[in-house]
Amino acid sequence: LRDAPRRQTDALASPSLDLTIRMRRNRKSEWARRLVRENVLTTDDLIWPMFVVDGHNTRTPVASMPGVDRLTVDQIVRDAERAAKLNIPCIALFPFTEPSLRDEQGSEALNPDNLVCQAVRAIKKEFPDIGVLCDVALDPFTSHGHDGLIEGGKILNDETVAVLVKQALTQAEAGCDVIAPSDMMDGRIGAIREALDDNGFGDVQIMSYAAKYASAFYGPFRDAIGSAKTLTGDKRTYQMDSANSDEALREVELDIAEGADMVMVKPGMPYLDIVRRVKDHFAMPTFVYQVSGEYAMIAGAAANGWIDGERAMMESLVGFKRAGADGILTYFAPKAAEKIKAES
Ligand code: PBG
Repeated sequence: LRDAPRRQTDALASPSLDLTIRMRRNRKSEWARRLVRENVLTTDDLIWPMFVVDGHNTRTPVASMPGVDRLTVDQIVRDAERAAKLNIPCIALFPFTEPSLRDEQGSEALNPDNLVCQAVRAIKKEFPDIGVLCDVALDPFTSHGHDGLIEGGKILNDETVAVLVKQALTQAEAGCDVIAPSDMMDGRIGAIREALDDNGFGDVQIMSYAAKYASAFYGPFRDAIGSAKTLTGDKRTYQMDSANSDEALREVELDIAEGADMVMVKPGMPYLDIVRRVKDHFAMPTFVYQVSGEYAMIAGAAANGWIDGERAMMESLVGFKRAGADGILTYFAPKAAEKIKAES
C-alpha cells in the first residue's frame, strides 16, 4: 500500500511505452495516409442506376430515395450526358411502367417500343460511347410484381426463362450493351447467351445478378418502379436466403459456366463477405449493387443531420472496393463522381 503512490509518480516521470512498432506513424499526416492507401475509388468503378417514366420534360422525386428522381426519356438523356461528363462508364435503366400496361404475363417487357427501349435508343443516339445496362426480369411489367410467370401460386422457372430470353433480345435490338438478368430463375444465363449469339448479338455482355438475396433493402426500389403495393407475397422461392454463403458460390459458378461475363452480388453492405468470397474464388469481374434501401438509410440519416452523408457515402463505396468489388451499382454514382472529380 505504501508503494502505490510512488509507482504512479514513476509512470508519470517516464510515460513512454517501449514500442518499436507504432502503427500511428503511417497515419501522421494526409500525405502519409495517401501513400499507404490500399484501395482507391475512381469514377471507373461506378454504374449509375436510373428510373425512366412516361411523359415529357419531367423529373418526379422518389419519396423513399431522397435525391433520386424518375425521369422522362428526354431527361434521362440529360443525365446520361451528366454521366458521360463525369466519366461514369455505364448507366443502368429501370422502368416505371404505367399500371394500365401491366398484366399477369408482363407482356410490356417484350414491346420493342417500351420505355426502356425508348430510353436506350435515345441515349445511344446522343451518347454512343456510354455503356447502357438493362435489367432483365418481369417485375416492372407484371400486375403481381413478381419477376416471373405464375401458375397456381408458383413462379414457373422454364416458362419464365423463355420470356426472359425474348426480353433480352428486345433490349439488345434497341442497342443495350450489357444484359443484366436479375430474376434468379435457373438456367437463364445459358439460354440468354445462346439466343444473343444466335441473333447476331455476340458482343452484348451479360452481367448476371448471380448471388441475389431476398432482401428488405429493395423496398424503396419497388416504390420507384411502382411494384411495392402490388407485390403479392415475397420472392423467397427464387431469391437467395440471407443466411447462406456457400450457396452463393454455387450460383456464381453456374452463371460463369453458362456464359456470364461479369457477376454481381446484391445487396451490398450486408453482403461484403460474399463479395470477398466470390472475388477470391473465381477471380471474375465482380460487381456489387448498393441497393435502394442502403441508399435510403444513408441519404435519410444524412437528411436528418444524424450522419455526415458525404463521408458515409464515400466510406461505404470504398468498403466495396476493399471487399474485392471491381465496380459498384449505386444511386450515389453522380455525387461520388463529382466528389472524386473535385478532389483530383
Ligand atoms: C428486379 C430488381 C430489383 C432490384 C433490381 N432489379 C428488385 C427486386 O428484386 O425485387 C432492386 C434494386 C434496388 O433495390 O435498388 N428484379
